[in-house]
Amino acid sequence: MATAGSKADIPKNLLAQIQHLEEIFTVDTKKLKEITNHFVSELAKGLTVEGGSIPMNPTWVMSFPDGYETGTFLALDMGGTNLRVCEITLTDQKSEFDIIQSKYRMPEELKTGKSDELWEYIADCLYQFVETHHGDCSKMSEPLPLGFTFSYPATQNYVDEGILQRWTKGFDIDGVEGKNVVPMFEAALAKRGVPIRLNALINDTTGTLIASAYTDTKMRIGCIFGTGCNAAYMEDVGSIPKLAHMNLPPDTPMAINCEWGAFDNEHVILPRTEYDVAIDRDSPRPGQQAFEKMIAGLYLGEIFRLVLVDLHDNNDVQLFEGQDIAQLRKAYSLDSSFLSIIEEDPFENLQETFDNFKQRLNIVCTRPELELIRRLAELIGTRAARLSSCGVAAICKKKNYESCHVGADGSVFNKYPHFKARGAQALKEILDWPEKTDPKAEDPVEILAAEDGSGVGAALIAALTLKRVKEGNM
Ligand code: GLC
Repeated sequence: MATAGSKADIPKNLLAQIQHLEEIFTVDTKKLKEITNHFVSELAKGLTVEGGSIPMNPTWVMSFPDGYETGTFLALDMGGTNLRVCEITLTDQKSEFDIIQSKYRMPEELKTGKSDELWEYIADCLYQFVETHHGDCSKMSEPLPLGFTFSYPATQNYVDEGILQRWTKGFDIDGVEGKNVVPMFEAALAKRGVPIRLNALINDTTGTLIASAYTDTKMRIGCIFGTGCNAAYMEDVGSIPKLAHMNLPPDTPMAINCEWGAFDNEHVILPRTEYDVAIDRDSPRPGQQAFEKMIAGLYLGEIFRLVLVDLHDNNDVQLFEGQDIAQLRKAYSLDSSFLSIIEEDPFENLQETFDNFKQRLNIVCTRPELELIRRLAELIGTRAARLSSCGVAAICKKKNYESCHVGADGSVFNKYPHFKARGAQALKEILDWPEKTDPKAEDPVEILAAEDGSGVGAALIAALTLKRVKEGNM
């Protein structure tokens, strides 16, 4: 069997390329700070009547849980990759819950298919779940309350509506943008005979914020670093000019789903490379989600792939010289787990990387090429973590949070090697924290693994909503 070999002398042309990649993908402290400062002003702008590029959507989630919420709720999670249905029982033991759940694959073709097919598929999954756990749907006397985690930007005038602003994360289904998705969803449930009543439509970030705050009172921000990237935090109504017409007391809390993936859609501050430009140009929604396209899991593998194809086609470098790279030319054929494997591979051999290129892409890499590949994965992964931290730092600055916990979820946060440490390092640089005397001490702002936002968070929000309705508040 061919092996990857050991550390090599890198030929000059490859070395020059590595240096060039380092230049274009590295975001230094100064730039991180500039981005963060611009981010702070964009967060505020999104809250004004005129608005800005970041939507800053009020969610009508208006309190943190106190840990004493009770009841049984269904939660439906329509993320970017899977569909999950859960039944959550919030018990009368403080901050404790029981959960049963089923995962369904979200067929790729549904993401760019017809609206009716999407809602029918979802109604089918819910039907199956209810039949399995509650018996015959047609015999149920009371509909089951549901929190629907719909993780796309949506305008909400009430907690139980969601007017889709635009699809993100590669979804592209006609006839949904600009419309309230709840009636479409409910019509499909009625047609299929599923006894469910929607109580709340939520974003995964809001769910993450609320679920994390259920067990940790220092939680102030909920983040998703997964297929997409976004955050939610609790704002005071008095700082949300676009809600002034509601005449609510200024200290009323209101969770804001930032939709920060749209940060810098006008391209004034992010250090975009030609590869970022290409990803945007060839996406279903060019000009949208500029920040997300540089950092979210859906795009990391694609950025990596575009660089390698470019280096192969570039006469000065000729990466994988003389080889057929047809497999590598397929758009979106490498996902972020491909990069994770490269980053985890022991550098001495890079054997798994070698094997993966051979088996999946039919490319035989030389040792110098493997070293370039490894460095490229590191650069892309590091840039993603560092840019993500600008968003977290910006919310902390806007809210004057000197110390707090941030609940984070998503495949990149949970599985991508070094993402957490790189993000923490960037936060430290941006917020100018002094060196710790005790290395085990917490950072002032700690990004921690969150509770299950799309499940438990959705159930809690449904419970908080019912409570608010019962108390006669809107
Ligand atoms: C995309 C969606 C956003 C979601 C995020 C994480 O950015 O627009 O609503 O929170 O992905 O799933």
